[in-house]
Amino acid sequence: MRKKILVTGGSGYKGVKLIRNLIQHGYSVINVDKNIFGNYFIKNKYIKNYKLDTNDIFKVNLKNVVACIHLASIANDPMVDLNPSLSWETSVLGSKILMDHLIKHKVKKIIYASSGSVYGIKKEKRVKENLPLKPLSTYNKVKMATERVILSYKDKIDVIILRPATVCGFAPRMRLDLTVNMLTFQALKNKKITVFGGKQKRPNVHIDDIIDAYIFFLKKKNIRFGIFNIGFENLSILEIAKKISKIIKSDIIIKKNHSDARSYNLDSSKLLKAGFKPKKKISDAIHELKDLYNKQKLLDKPNFHSIKWLKFKLDQKKSI
Ligand SMILES: NC(=O)c1ccc[n+]([C@@H]2O[C@H](COP(=O)([O-])OP(=O)(O)OC[C@H]3O[C@@H](n4cnc5c(N)ncnc54)[C@H](O)[C@@H]3O)[C@@H](O)[C@H]2O)c1
Repeated sequence: MRKKILVTGGSGYKGVKLIRNLIQHGYSVINVDKNIFGNYFIKNKYIKNYKLDTNDIFKVNLKNVVACIHLASIANDPMVDLNPSLSWETSVLGSKILMDHLIKHKVKKIIYASSGSVYGIKKEKRVKENLPLKPLSTYNKVKMATERVILSYKDKIDVIILRPATVCGFAPRMRLDLTVNMLTFQALKNKKITVFGGKQKRPNVHIDDIIDAYIFFLKKKNIRFGIFNIGFENLSILEIAKKISKIIKSDIIIKKNHSDARSYNLDSSKLLKAGFKPKKKISDAIHELKDLYNKQKLLDKPNFHSIKWLKFKLDQKKSI
């Protein structure tokens, strides 16, 4: 019988690809997502989809679920700033409700998608998991507080916290607000890349590697607790732009004003020591996006622009 995994936020950028891979790896899946960015539910006999807020997770029967991969949240700084209470309520309080429900159903493991951005600005060349957190934005603070809620259950359930770098690469529910994806798309569409500031250091991870990492921790029975960074190429925004312009002929325009001060180098040696091997680089993501764009498979859809899309939905309904 297939082992059953609960995925929250399974209709998102990472979630859709993750669920496909889980099915290929022989799992069955319960997906709980309120489909903020559209209906990306996959129809498959091994997937049960619930269009639901994670705060209402108690409505879902988790019988025989062995692990949870918790992705649901408002997933970047400007989106959280559109309605900060929504994130505190759904990510922090919602995660407490989720944890109680997991414990009630004797689920053995939770893997939480935190964020490398919880470190804030760090001068250290190697930002390791034991450094103090200095979250700058509300998004970063919510991520840190959610980690703490989940960690408070570690005597009752195995807890793995992943702190990913900014993810890049193609997915069916595409995100064009992420650094490499956004700058690559500008180069493809306008033959021009606009960089604000440019010196800020940002670590990166390919979407296929982050998904492999979730599955790696599902399978690793001997790792029952831990916080792990995952990011492999620490580059300044300008270095990323230059990489793109070499692959897709385009001009780089540098503007002085920038509001996003985050700057840090992630050190993922703990994850590598645990046995995880990344397979892809930023340049793979750029080539893949270029190829799909040329084949008209990477389109400019309104829901791929997460910030504008969420603003539109919030203005329309006052809540989501
Ligand atoms: N993509 C990145 O670069 C990155 C980097 C670090 C961390 N993360 C984290 O990984 C997770 C997934 O990110 P993503 O890029 O797939 O984002 P995404 O915005 O594409 O997906 C998030 C999904 O969660 C759902 N959701 C949000 N709030 C919900 C709620 N209260 N109840 C039910 N569903 C809800 C949304 O409908 C969406 O489908 C997020 O927690 C994010 O903070 C992402």
